[in-house]
Amino acid sequence: MLVLLTITAALAGTQTVRGHQAALLIIDVQDCFLPRGSLAVSDGDQVIPVINKLREDFKDAFSLVVLSQDWHCPDHVSFASQHPGFNPYSVVNLTYNADGALCHGASVPSNFPYAVDCSNQPGSKLRVVQQTLWPDHCIRNVTSGGTSAEFSPLLTMKDSDVVVRKGYLCGVDSYSAFFDNGGFRQTELNGILKEHNIDLVVVTGLALDYCVYYTSKDAHALGYKVLTVTDAARGVAPGSTEAALEDMKNIGIELITAADLEGALQDPSKGANPGSFSFYLFVALGAVLTAFLVFKS
Ligand SMILES: *[C@@H]1O[C@H](CO)[C@@H](O)[C@H](O)[C@H]1NC(C)=O
Ligand SMILES: *[C@@H]1O[C@H](CO)[C@@H](O)[C@H](O)[C@H]1NC(C)=O
Ligand SMILES: [Zn+2]
Repeated sequence: MLVLLTITAALAGTQTVRGHQAALLIIDVQDCFLPRGSLAVSDGDQVIPVINKLREDFKDAFSLVVLSQDWHCPDHVSFASQHPGFNPYSVVNLTYNADGALCHGASVPSNFPYAVDCSNQPGSKLRVVQQTLWPDHCIRNVTSGGTSAEFSPLLTMKDSDVVVRKGYLCGVDSYSAFFDNGGFRQTELNGILKEHNIDLVVVTGLALDYCVYYTSKDAHALGYKVLTVTDAARGVAPGSTEAALEDMKNIGIELITAADLEGALQDPSKGANPGSFSFYLFVALGAVLTAFLVFKS
């Protein structure tokens, strides 16, 4: 009986990563960001085999796999096409009122349907959010062509995976899978992680300098231990990628490669890990067994 319990405890140990409950976050691995997509990230498709291998090699270590999906209105505020006189990759200032509603203004034409008049609101109540304008991309319900929001067919997906959509409000962008860019509203992601007692997230996907970066930052700010897998991610541009990596490193996000993760995850044959519940269970059972043997002799 004790032997059986001990074996169970040792096996339970393989479900944890250094005593943590871990989730794999796969950010925006969608057709729109992949080669031939309207906002293609250079070599974006190269993250797919790395991510597939991670989830296969460590399927016992991840108690949850979450995929985020950029999911925009056809006339989303982040699209340059909605801002007459502005080109993709230019930056505009968007103003929001205290309720997080977009205000009409210089770069938001008066006929833009998702903006309100804020002229009677005191300036102190308004918040300015810088918005990079993008080519139209990841449009909700679009399943083919450059703007398709579909996940790559090459990406391994399972029925147990959780999909979290972001950027679905037409008047505000959302790089992070947790919060929109104004910090006005959050997605269901934090609640889902809490429900599963997750305290460590492994972040992968596209793009390293935007959605992977802001998701990693928010996860860190929310108190999760964050491992961002740099070879399971690609950036839009070298300069912003460099800056994102530097910032993540400075705030205490662990930047690792997929090979580092292999080292960080325990070898199932080694049984329970110090710090995990099963480790203490293991020790407790050992103590009981010893007491039993001492008592018998
Ligand atoms: C946005 O605001 C900043 C100052 O906060 C200013 O330097 C910049 O020119 C503004 N951009 C546009 C497009 O108006
Ligand atoms: C398109 O997506 C929206 C938002 O997810 C959904 O409510 C709507 O039913 C979809 N429309 C079609 C035609 O699939
Ligand atoms: Zn987007």
